[in-house]
Amino acid sequence: MYIHRVGVVGAGTMGNGITHVLARSGYHVVLCDVEQRFLDRALETIGKNLDREVAKSKITAADKATAMGRIQLVVDRGKLSDCDFVVEAATEKFAIKTEIFRDLDRICPPEIILASNTSSISITKLAALTKRPEKVIGMHFFNPVPVMKLVEVIRGLATAQPTFETVRDLALKLEKTPVEVNDAPGFVSNRVLMPLLNEAMYTVMEGVATPEAVDEVFKLGMAHPMGPLTLADFIGLDVCLDIMRVLLDGLGDPKYRPCPLLIKMVDAGWLGRKSGRGFYKY
Ligand code: 3HC
Repeated sequence: MYIHRVGVVGAGTMGNGITHVLARSGYHVVLCDVEQRFLDRALETIGKNLDREVAKSKITAADKATAMGRIQLVVDRGKLSDCDFVVEAATEKFAIKTEIFRDLDRICPPEIILASNTSSISITKLAALTKRPEKVIGMHFFNPVPVMKLVEVIRGLATAQPTFETVRDLALKLEKTPVEVNDAPGFVSNRVLMPLLNEAMYTVMEGVATPEAVDEVFKLGMAHPMGPLTLADFIGLDVCLDIMRVLLDGLGDPKYRPCPLLIKMVDAGWLGRKSGRGFYKY
């Protein structure tokens, strides 16, 4: 199916990154969120991130202006009705995604694919909320979206082959590398990554080492670009906690229990880089 106009639901870190790469690759994007101020903040971030690419001569100032001009900001979800493809990148809570998927199913024509950038929630469950389960799929980008090459493409139980192929081809057009996985809690990426971050938090909680020392171990010993606690702050501690809860709930194994220190920090509003404080201060 020909895709020209893409709807993005959610203007947070992932939604603005997805909008950035879509607009830079020539797609018209209708970015939707519940309040205008979230949309304005997203557009400002996209402008700054495109400036980095201009500064590095990856794109020209004219390319930036053209990309920015392809982005339409809307608070009315009904305006997604003429999009050829919609990707949801809202908060990682099943109740919120339930409301959005039911609404999108009502708003968008039945042939339109509804993708979710969820980092761990079941695609099969999201699909079952709609009358088009064969057209629901996971399209999981990685932060920072303009930089990271991976898109995890997740097949729900009912996802049809043409739906998979459309999303795989779209990822390739965005100059990403799609990797196919089946639906399971946390998919592959977060099933493996989050327990690592969670375990790193236990070592800090138990006084085994400082956050700085834990991060040095992974940067220098394993060549990770960021240590696990810097990465947790970068992803958002609330997001890490939500994903650990999905793993614990979905896999039922106590090895996935969220670290008490993580819970306490989220309770305190220490959400990492976005709130100015997490394992580090920003
Ligand atoms: N937009 C555009 N470009 C960006 C950017 C952004 N938001 N952030 C960084 N960049 C560019 C920089 O301009 C720079 O470009 P260059 O290579 O042409 O010079 C390049 O990316 C590297 O950036 P910096 O030089 O500023 O900094 P670093 O070399 O320290 O790299 C990093 C930053 C790319 C974030 C690197 O530290 C890294 O790869 N970290 C790990 C990130 C990671 O693991 N992400 C996955 C998180 S998990 C996830 O998202 C899944 C979810 O479900 C939880």
